[in-house]
Amino acid sequence: MSEVLNTIKNRRSVRKFLTTPIEEDKVEAILTAGQWAPSFVNLQPWKFIVVRDPETKKKLAEILKMPMVGIIYRGEIAYDQLPHVPVIIVVVVDPNKDKLHYVEDGAVATQNMALAAHSLGLGTYWIGVYNHTYIEDEIKKALEIPVDCRVISLMPVGVAAETPQKDRESLGNIVYYDKFGKR
Ligand SMILES: Cc1cc2nc3c(=O)[nH]c(=O)nc-3n(C[C@H](O)[C@H](O)[C@H](O)COP(=O)(O)O)c2cc1C
Repeated sequence: MSEVLNTIKNRRSVRKFLTTPIEEDKVEAILTAGQWAPSFVNLQPWKFIVVRDPETKKKLAEILKMPMVGIIYRGEIAYDQLPHVPVIIVVVVDPNKDKLHYVEDGAVATQNMALAAHSLGLGTYWIGVYNHTYIEDEIKKALEIPVDCRVISLMPVGVAAETPQKDRESLGNIVYYDKFGKR
């Protein structure tokens, strides 16, 4: 398999991290992977906030641990780790820049960065806050993000302290040919 395919297949969401600092050039390489993500007519409606300040990381963890309305699984336990993770990258998009596809733009930048982190021997996971209205609003306040902007993801990045396993549905179950439902 190619290097890219191996990276895609072997990347897992890592939620436990060592406190070991990570090199600046690796953070920049991850951000570069986000920068080079595709976006609708190359509008690049994103900003990436690199959070290193311990107090800000603590605040983000507190916000994420807030009780949610509804039953969405938010992996609460992992959020205790956030203040000790070297870096949290926050992916913000501006819907005024790309009204049609800002969500996909932010999502593809997030995944590019997740793959880059994995390829550099680091772990990360995608904390989804988009449309978790209260949480998203609180994060915007904490990071002074303009009200018009949307937060697509938070990505804690660090040296992995776990090697999680995950499976996927077989291709036979998810691939159709020529028409929906035709195998
Ligand atoms: C849009 C999106 C939102 C996610 N939100 C969360 C989250 O809030 N908390 C969490 O622990 N994992 C979150 N994840 C990670 C998924 O749980 C994970 O990707 C999935 O279980 C597959 O595991 P893998 O990434 O290890 O292959 C999110 C992933 C995506 C794509």
